[in-house]
Amino acid sequence: MIKTATGAATRLVIRQPDDWHVHLRDGAMLSTVVNETARQFARAIVMPNLIPPVTTVAAAEAYRSRIQAALAPGLAFTPLMTAYLTDTIEPGEIERGFGSGVFTAAKLYPAHATTNAAQGVTDIERIYPVLEVMQRLGMPLLVHGEVVDHHVDVFDREAVFIERVLTKLLAAFPALRVVLEHITTEEAVAFVEAAGPNLGATITPHHLVINRNAMFEGGIRPHLYCLPVAKRERHRLALRRAATSGNPKFFLGTDSAPHAVGEKESDCGCAGIFNAPVALETYAAVFEEEGALERLEAFAAEHGPRFYGLPLNTGAIVLERTPRRAPSTMVVANTRIIPFQANATLAWTFRGRSIGGY
Ligand code: DOR
Ligand code: ZN
Repeated sequence: MIKTATGAATRLVIRQPDDWHVHLRDGAMLSTVVNETARQFARAIVMPNLIPPVTTVAAAEAYRSRIQAALAPGLAFTPLMTAYLTDTIEPGEIERGFGSGVFTAAKLYPAHATTNAAQGVTDIERIYPVLEVMQRLGMPLLVHGEVVDHHVDVFDREAVFIERVLTKLLAAFPALRVVLEHITTEEAVAFVEAAGPNLGATITPHHLVINRNAMFEGGIRPHLYCLPVAKRERHRLALRRAATSGNPKFFLGTDSAPHAVGEKESDCGCAGIFNAPVALETYAAVFEEEGALERLEAFAAEHGPRFYGLPLNTGAIVLERTPRRAPSTMVVANTRIIPFQANATLAWTFRGRSIGGY
């Protein structure tokens, strides 16, 4: 870290990070968005909620090839593939996919919880045979932690999931490695902190920056709508404390989830925030604001691989404390996507991979 005479950091060289939760989409959208992730991150856990969802080893291999084909020439990036769990997925398919190195993890979407989750799991007990196999293999289970019960207030769905589903799941499979994805509440932070070492959590840039008021500031803001939805200020502050605490159970996962502008600005707008164009810069600003810049590297580049049992990256990236205007829009085929922080001035600028290495 290079500092000015007043002690403020001006340049950061950190181990190259990974993104432990991203939606890269497919087709024309994939070719536009994948390089936004690949220019910053060495690896990413790629979400399987395509249409149709990635439920087989063959589908994951084919999707991985499409991702690799969409990468800009010379950009080194490893997509880590995930299986989409359904009520009927065969334990043998999961075992074969993990054993052959195609599946790194499997994703649990409660049915109808979010975008393309219609084929998700209707009752956790239906996938107990799969979880048994995953526990034995040491294969991580990635969880979208929200109940879908319409009697439960949308802002309480994560906390109720923890109470009703996650507690039971962890008790039934004490050796299963579980990541509670994109946590949004004080309750999730406390639960993860109190649980054993097999439970980790990812934290997105947007949940560190916005609270639920941001969705209604001066009018409805569809580009700030995601699931789990942003919560009250006290929850955002709890997430900032967790992310910057140095606790290895918390790590970087952007949940970057692009949707075409027409899908967001609609009478029934999709959930998802496209933050890949500003991800590292946003995390750097949060860590600086919290007086924890020296802990950014561990959150972004060490806690995740250690949880997954993967090697740390050996390359490095450079961030500079130079203001940069975030892009206002991104053109995709015949439409556009509006990224997180569109047009805002970011305090940090991502300068790319460090030539001199780490
Ligand atoms: O906001 C979200 N968008 N949350 C999810 O869980 C899915 C994602 C998407 O795929 O658009
Ligand atoms: Zn997601």
